[in-house]
Amino acid sequence: MSDGAVDIQVDKAEARDDAYSTPLDELNPAKPELFQADAHWPYFERLRAEDPVHWTPAGNLEAHWAITRFDDIVAIDTNHQVFSSEGGITLPPSEARIAQVEAQGGGGAMSSLFVDEEKQRGPSMFIAMDPPKHDVQRKTVSPAVSPHNLIRLEPLIREEAGRILDALPIGEPFDWVDKVSMELTAMTLATLFGVDQADRRKLTRWSDVVMAQPGHGVVDTWEQKRQEMTEYGMYFLKLWHERLASAPAGDLISMLAHGEETRGMDQFEYLGNVILLTIGGNDTTRNTISGSVYALNKNPDQYDKLRKDPELIPSMVSETIRWQTPLAHMRRTALSDFEFQGKQMKAGDLVAMWYVSGNRDERAIAGDPNAYDITRERPRHHVAFGFGIHRCVGNRVAELQLRIIWEEILKRFPDIQLIEEPRRTHSVFVKGYERMLVQIPTRN
Ligand code: HEM
Repeated sequence: MSDGAVDIQVDKAEARDDAYSTPLDELNPAKPELFQADAHWPYFERLRAEDPVHWTPAGNLEAHWAITRFDDIVAIDTNHQVFSSEGGITLPPSEARIAQVEAQGGGGAMSSLFVDEEKQRGPSMFIAMDPPKHDVQRKTVSPAVSPHNLIRLEPLIREEAGRILDALPIGEPFDWVDKVSMELTAMTLATLFGVDQADRRKLTRWSDVVMAQPGHGVVDTWEQKRQEMTEYGMYFLKLWHERLASAPAGDLISMLAHGEETRGMDQFEYLGNVILLTIGGNDTTRNTISGSVYALNKNPDQYDKLRKDPELIPSMVSETIRWQTPLAHMRRTALSDFEFQGKQMKAGDLVAMWYVSGNRDERAIAGDPNAYDITRERPRHHVAFGFGIHRCVGNRVAELQLRIIWEEILKRFPDIQLIEEPRRTHSVFVKGYERMLVQIPTRN
């Protein structure tokens, strides 16, 4: 299988056979085509049962340990002394894949604004740092997403959510991802950054471009990606200088520009953090909003319960975040040799914590973990936000957006109907939807 320019279709039944017939030592769920086809589940089901700490051979991505059970993920995630974020938090491409990409003209797809040639390092962000530097930078941006600041944001988000919903067509198909999920997340992000609302969809675009592999619908070539990344960098460098020249304010850029610990950061570090906050707050929430409509359509009994009892919205939101798991994994690097669950890890080994699998772990999720159940007893008991010192800093913003959009939806529309299966994202990291056609038959 490849993640080259052509999408490979994966049949779900064949994937199940493949998952159980492949020799265990060759089993590799880290393939974007599996996720795009929603066919990754049986691979993780088998690994949880037969080899929960699994040495995964290199494919398009580097070889790594796959951690697939809930409790093991928590154990790795809370042991940051051994399992470092410093080297990056996604699985890197294998050498064979890098050679393939180079041959397609894809070397150095980041704009030079983000890459420090002298020090030979890419964009630097606190998600990919260890203490003490991580803790200091995280502390600087945290107030922007604190409950106190969220109280200020709530009416803004609600007003915008209403405006977005009121503009939707009635009785004709439209793309929910584009018209609702992207709009709402872009608006929230623009508010957090203190960016002009007219530019909000630029944030969506840049978030997509950062993650994009040319040939999969977002950008056509590596050169195009480089150019758009340059625009992105220039835009935020300008903003940094503008904020520096004005009095400190409550938005994220101002906080970074004036923060005692962050105002001295260099361009690469600053832009790295901008990327982090753009992607962190964008794809994830967007895909949860789309995921909620999808899950409720696939489980009409749950949709009925929600209509009858809007008090269920907060637990529906948490259940959707668990069920969707918008970020499928995070990666760590072992700093020393370490024995874990009978397996001998070596210093330098890569470790993938598969949240997507932990959230379906029969041992940790009471009841049927594959079911979508908005009345589940402990709906916030999931690992979709990670665990430990890197646990999602924006988790309350995400939940807030989801809660508000559903409060506003239920006021307006008796039904949102899925028209066809959505187009899913070609990625083993961002787990979501590129397009989801729906129809709203009537207003309340
Ligand atoms: C449902 C929505 C979301 C999900 C599922 C999600 C998921 C995650 C996960 C799994 C991590 C842990 C990374 C690690 O351990 O390496 C994380 C960290 C992070 N998230 Fe989120 N996220 C969401 C929404 C947001 C939002 C709305 C923002 C910003 C406003 C955001 C900003 C961040 C940042 C800055 C970090 C890094 C924290 C650190 O390293 O200390 N996220 N997120």
